[in-house]
Amino acid sequence: MSIKVSHLTKLFGTQTAVDDVSFQVEKGEILGFLGPNGAGKTTTMRMISGYLTADEGEILVNGTPVTEESTKIRSNLGYLPENNPLYQDMYVREYLRYVARIYHIDQPWKRINEVIEMTGLTKEYHKQIRELSKGYRQRVGLAQAIIHNPDVLILDEATSGLDPNQLIEIRQLIKDLGKEKTILLSTHIMQEVQALCDRVIIINKGKIVADGNIRLLSQNLTNAYKVNVIFSRHVVDITLREIEGYISHEEINSSSYIITGKENNLNEAIFDFAVKKGLKIIEMSTLQESVENIFQQLTQAS
Ligand SMILES: Nc1ncnc2c1ncn2[C@@H]1O[C@H](COP(=O)(O)OP(=O)(O)OP(=O)(O)O)[C@@H](O)[C@H]1O
Ligand SMILES: [Mg+2]
Repeated sequence: MSIKVSHLTKLFGTQTAVDDVSFQVEKGEILGFLGPNGAGKTTTMRMISGYLTADEGEILVNGTPVTEESTKIRSNLGYLPENNPLYQDMYVREYLRYVARIYHIDQPWKRINEVIEMTGLTKEYHKQIRELSKGYRQRVGLAQAIIHNPDVLILDEATSGLDPNQLIEIRQLIKDLGKEKTILLSTHIMQEVQALCDRVIIINKGKIVADGNIRLLSQNLTNAYKVNVIFSRHVVDITLREIEGYISHEEINSSSYIITGKENNLNEAIFDFAVKKGLKIIEMSTLQESVENIFQQLTQAS
């Protein structure tokens, strides 16, 4: 596998920012890294990228420990840091030339022009970085992360600050890159996770609280199934509890409810209930459990 993190721990003073974190990311996988502010995402990503040393644990990138041979690792790893610190006085092409030099890239101008095109910087590359809007600065950050065509990409909130049109383009670029590379992507945008990621890890207070396929994760939650149903008439609260697997409900109006239940055949249970009570079902639809709900359930409890 391309990234393997085992029992990673980082303390800042007495605070454990990252607490015994272990996970793996395979080639061709885009892993979404989610968690509330201060959960430890950036700290973990900085350690993987070799910019911060771990207190405990091991990180292997393409089989090599990051503590050793950091030059070798960096040559095959692209990192877009959270605040994307760029050299403000440099021109876009000058900055990319500088980065290309660090990586000893062959035919640097050819590659620079390629990444300018890929990241949609064609109209802006003649500007100084300080003159760029936030979204375009973000694109320069992405350009520097991919310029040496690394196998592993660590993208810390890669799409923050992008407008809706830019979002679509940059997500497509990340998706395309993800076909051949290993990508660890932190974000606070749930649609992004749903659009891009095969798998998500949710971290809370330095610890991993969920790791898996988005669909499978939702099945492990107790109240994962929600159905929106409109009956022909009002049903009293107490009666709704007779639905098999019932957990809770929300009354939308006097005959419309969102019912949450344990079983994945909640629709059938509601149908059986309606038959038993002589109710007609006017409308019924399954509400997909969103990543947002999963996230809230796992990170708000404690
Ligand atoms: N250099 C540092 N010195 C002291 N504490 C730090 C340092 N860097 C991070 N921390 C602390 O470690 C914890 C994790 O921070 P981190 O930046 O990794 O969170 P995050 O998950 O990236 O949050 P966000 O979503 O806000 O970016 C926070 O409590 C933070 O204050
Ligand atoms: Mg962060």
